[in-house]
Amino acid sequence: MIIGVPKESYPGERRVALIPASLQALSKVGMEVIVEEGAGLDAGFTDAEYKEKGAKVVSRDEVFSKGEIILQVRSHGANQDAGKADLPKMRKGQIVIGTAEPLSELDAAKELAATGVTHFALELVPRITRAQSMDILSSMATVAGYKAVILASDKLPRMFPMMMTAAGTVAPARVFVIGAGVAGLQAIASAKKAGAKVLAYDIRPAVKEQIESLGGKFLEMDLGTEDAEDKGGYAKEQSEETIQKQRQMMKDAIADSDVVITTAAIPGRKAPILVTRDMVEGMVTGSVVVDLAAERGGNVEGTEAGKTVVIGGVTILGPENLPATVPYHASQMFAKNIVTFLQNMINKEGQLEMNLEDEIINDTLVCKDGEVVNARMRELMGLAAPATEGSDA
Ligand code: NAI
Repeated sequence: MIIGVPKESYPGERRVALIPASLQALSKVGMEVIVEEGAGLDAGFTDAEYKEKGAKVVSRDEVFSKGEIILQVRSHGANQDAGKADLPKMRKGQIVIGTAEPLSELDAAKELAATGVTHFALELVPRITRAQSMDILSSMATVAGYKAVILASDKLPRMFPMMMTAAGTVAPARVFVIGAGVAGLQAIASAKKAGAKVLAYDIRPAVKEQIESLGGKFLEMDLGTEDAEDKGGYAKEQSEETIQKQRQMMKDAIADSDVVITTAAIPGRKAPILVTRDMVEGMVTGSVVVDLAAERGGNVEGTEAGKTVVIGGVTILGPENLPATVPYHASQMFAKNIVTFLQNMINKEGQLEMNLEDEIINDTLVCKDGEVVNARMRELMGLAAPATEGSDA
């Protein structure tokens, strides 16, 4: 089969879905790769490197007309405007794999379905052990957690590590991380490595041990959230009363921090507001807040997605698409995820097989034969559940 990799067209997107080093694994299972000219350049991968590993470098039109499987970082849905331009290039039966904001961009899913493609949305990879190496939300959140610390240290008028010098002693920066999922844990680890004193909190008490194993201190608060974790390991939505209590109890910790990094998220829901304006104003002038949840409404009152806001001398960053700011490694991780995802669909005979009894394949399949078939998405669209049957490519 021929795999096509177009250059990403979303504004500011610098990642690429496949890197030269991923080609070997694909050629082993008999797949050929064609890459759009310049597809990897922004991430640091030249056309010559792709060619050296056996790929053909072609035009965008050729990627879509010859590619039987199209691999993208952002498919239509996660690339609303520019992504539309590719729809007429797609054809029935072609397989498209990429991110697509499937649970919020339902109209885009219908538009993709109308082209006849078989589309898989990578955000829907279940968080199960077997799928860990395919989980792009986790790998990209890891990049974001790291980069949040770098952004904070750049804006902070202080240094992160403690230093004992002839010019006096410098106290370490105090960093408070709220939400210790994938992004939060990486932020804790990165801040700690940079020499900061790290405090962290999550409503799932189970993560206390993970925070401590990274050298962070867990902020003990008795909020009665022992059952805050669902079967999938995600947090459940909390009542306004609990959130109110949480804000109250975090007030002092926030006022005592030089940097606050927020990452609290509930799948499929707007991010909870955990830091109010007066809590921001209670911080020392020059302090920095990085709100990683900015794209989903933010954890901090006053955050503006994609902007830097200053409230009472405190800088609030609401960065968007952080993985694209570290495109080399983000692409390397993304490519590993997408190749593993693809390998999971290849059977012992080296044929592509879409076994819908495999929950990874079933959960990520968005549309096929002109119709949105994903059960979660159909429910959101108010449509009847899909017919259940296995199928081959
Ligand atoms: P995750 O689901 O692994 O972690 C979220 C954590 O928040 C969970 O541990 C959960 O228990 C916790 N949480 C929920 N409610 C809370 C509360 N009231 N108080 C304290 N903790 C609470 O999610 P992940 O992958 O770490 O992503 C975190 C956030 O970062 C998401 O909003 C995601 O969209 C965002 N993100 C942003 C990027 C960017 O470029 N700005 C890139 C990647 C992720």
